[in-house]
Amino acid sequence: MNLDRRAFFVSLGGAAVVASMSDEAKADALERYMMAQATSSTPATSTGSPPGAGGSSTATKFPTVAELDTQIATRTTRRGVGNLFAANQGNVPHLPPMPEKPTLVDFYKLRFVATSNHCLQSANRAMKNGMSEEIILACLLHDTVQELIKVDHGWWSAQMYEPYVSEKVAFAIRYHQALRFYEDKEHGYEYPDLYRRIFGSDYRPEPYIQRTYEMVRKHKWYMEPRMVTVNDLYAFEPNVHPQLEQFTDIIGRHFKQPKEGLGFDGSPVAHMWRSIAMPDHPL
Ligand SMILES: [Fe+2]
Ligand SMILES: [Fe+2]
Repeated sequence: MNLDRRAFFVSLGGAAVVASMSDEAKADALERYMMAQATSSTPATSTGSPPGAGGSSTATKFPTVAELDTQIATRTTRRGVGNLFAANQGNVPHLPPMPEKPTLVDFYKLRFVATSNHCLQSANRAMKNGMSEEIILACLLHDTVQELIKVDHGWWSAQMYEPYVSEKVAFAIRYHQALRFYEDKEHGYEYPDLYRRIFGSDYRPEPYIQRTYEMVRKHKWYMEPRMVTVNDLYAFEPNVHPQLEQFTDIIGRHFKQPKEGLGFDGSPVAHMWRSIAMPDHPL
């Protein structure tokens, strides 16, 4: 999809703010922006600027750490807050009630509102590309935890799904976050032009992301999270809405739905599901 670089920067508070953000935060902000664009079904507007316009000039305007600190204190919520807990514009909406024993499908339809279209597009692409069912499921789930929290979403998401999916699926979800920043042309992943266009050539992941990448690159399951990134790249198309029913069989075969309902099965992550189900509980 086309990306209006200027509109994206404005949405974050301006080019100076973007330049002041950590690299990981910038990439996450971009992903959220693209997700919102896809979810809204409104094609991103274009300013007509050529790709890369302004890239080199903004690179020389990085603010200081002190300026970054100043920006933090101008917002009412932190950047890492989950989609359910803050409205992009206006007030947060009333949420429909959840069933007594909610399933993954219930969460998908009633709570994963901001992330579902992007994840469905990603899973749809993985299916079209002939990926394994485990990779398709990983794509379907990979960003949904951003309804709860966005910071380090790969790790949070894998933790939330770990009791219900195979180790391989959890591995794919956890490490897609780090692998996004490292290209692997042999397997179809080029460093996204989008990142280069928006953030310039000096983009560098944080050290913990680099260390994670180096570990995963040598791992026997490297291809699992790599394929999530490959099918993630192009999953921001406006007006493309794959349906969850397309994946019902894969969910049935690979997701261990607890009979008590997600959030009520006594698992170590049940509270995460309850927090998504009932985000208006004050304490
Ligand atoms: Fe992600
Ligand atoms: Fe994604």
